Amino acid sequence: MNANWTPDSWRTKPIRQVPSYPDEEALREVEARLASFPPLVFAGEARKLRRKLARVAEGKGFLLQGGDCAESFAEHSADNIRDFFRVFLQMAVVLTYASGQPVVKLGRIAGQFAKPRSDDFETRDGVTLPSYRGDIINSIEFDEEARIPDPHRQLQAYRQSAATLNLLRAFAQGGYANLEHVHRWTLGFLRDTPMAGRYREIADRITDTMRFMRACGINPDTAHQLRTTDFYTSHEALLLGYEQALTRIDSTSGDWYATSGHFLWIGDRTRDPEGAHVEFLRGVQNPIGIKAGPSMTPDGLLKLIEILNPENDPGRLTIITRFGADKVASGLPPLIRAVQREGFKVVWSCDPMHGNTIKTDAGYKTRPFDRVLAEVRAFMQVHAAEGTHAGGIHIEMTGQNVTECTGGARAIAESDLSDRYHTHCDPRLNAAQALELAFLIAGEMNHADSREAAE
Ligand code: PEP
Ligand code: CO
Repeated sequence: MNANWTPDSWRTKPIRQVPSYPDEEALREVEARLASFPPLVFAGEARKLRRKLARVAEGKGFLLQGGDCAESFAEHSADNIRDFFRVFLQMAVVLTYASGQPVVKLGRIAGQFAKPRSDDFETRDGVTLPSYRGDIINSIEFDEEARIPDPHRQLQAYRQSAATLNLLRAFAQGGYANLEHVHRWTLGFLRDTPMAGRYREIADRITDTMRFMRACGINPDTAHQLRTTDFYTSHEALLLGYEQALTRIDSTSGDWYATSGHFLWIGDRTRDPEGAHVEFLRGVQNPIGIKAGPSMTPDGLLKLIEILNPENDPGRLTIITRFGADKVASGLPPLIRAVQREGFKVVWSCDPMHGNTIKTDAGYKTRPFDRVLAEVRAFMQVHAAEGTHAGGIHIEMTGQNVTECTGGARAIAESDLSDRYHTHCDPRLNAAQALELAFLIAGEMNHADSREAAE
């Protein structure tokens, strides 16, 4: 099926965004050790996710994908994971209610450690050092020694991914995801914020629905769907030596799977059809994402789809568009039309973060909440006009009360950014902004429904 593909066939292709490890022997030793470690996820889980995404591609579901821009070794704690998972579930409940469809829950977590960079070097006060490329590669500390790529960091990333995934699995299956708790958190959260008035209506409708279900005998004690959830992990497949070491043959199907996470995506900077990253992902059977920014042409996208999904299997590919709020209306329709013309089945998801990053006068990278929302709205409007399904969102978020993106109901100003600016890479929505975004998208979905009903 995958002609001439092997887990290491990417090594013969041109590659971008690779760190240069000074000690190649140490790198080989680390990769060999990783190859002997247990897989982090099972092929059967990746297949189940593919089936769920196939439903989304058919217009019968919604994909919620989110998490840190870059996970960090320093912030690896149970509280961080719990707080992320909590707000993520709250968003999922709001979106499930508003869309009336199952929401596929996919974290940017338990493996999101490697970062592509626009510049290979960073200069501060006249000193130039190699750029930070994510904790799996080097340290964020601006120090000559700390910026040297160290292969042993891959072992730490693997261990942290395993521990994170273990806790997430426990939360998802062990009662933490109970729908009644999740909704109660949302009500509590709304009570204490300026969002209360605006989002009360949707929250009250969810409360009423749960009351009705309870009266009918459907509650978390009687229905496991209300007390457990399926949660999947994803990251950018950037550091291919690490990915190769965790790529295994599934004994059930005989197919190759990346076992570093359920879903892997190709970044906007590494999606060259002739390049190493596309070559690697072509051969693994996980569901795959392709980031598509303003430089993606319709022909370029079709070519990638042909390479990555020759059998046109729905659920295999998610196109994650990230144009920027002002470019979606012109940039997205040509891509959708090309894909529709060829009859290709894909999930369309919107990343409203990466096209909306600006730098403040004080030097902070930030994203105005209004622009994030504007991109999602424009994305939904374009899909409505083209008759295609706005299938999901992909966001950078945290469960912490950081000040990295401006705006939102609590109105973070540029002058507030220095208070709690903790990200290791791009600015993330904080817990309140993430939940608010879910409510606003829910409002858009309801508008669309009432427009349809009126027609
Ligand atoms: C990212 O998702 O963090 C990222 C680098 O995105 P993109 O490849 O779309 O720029
Ligand atoms: Co990012």
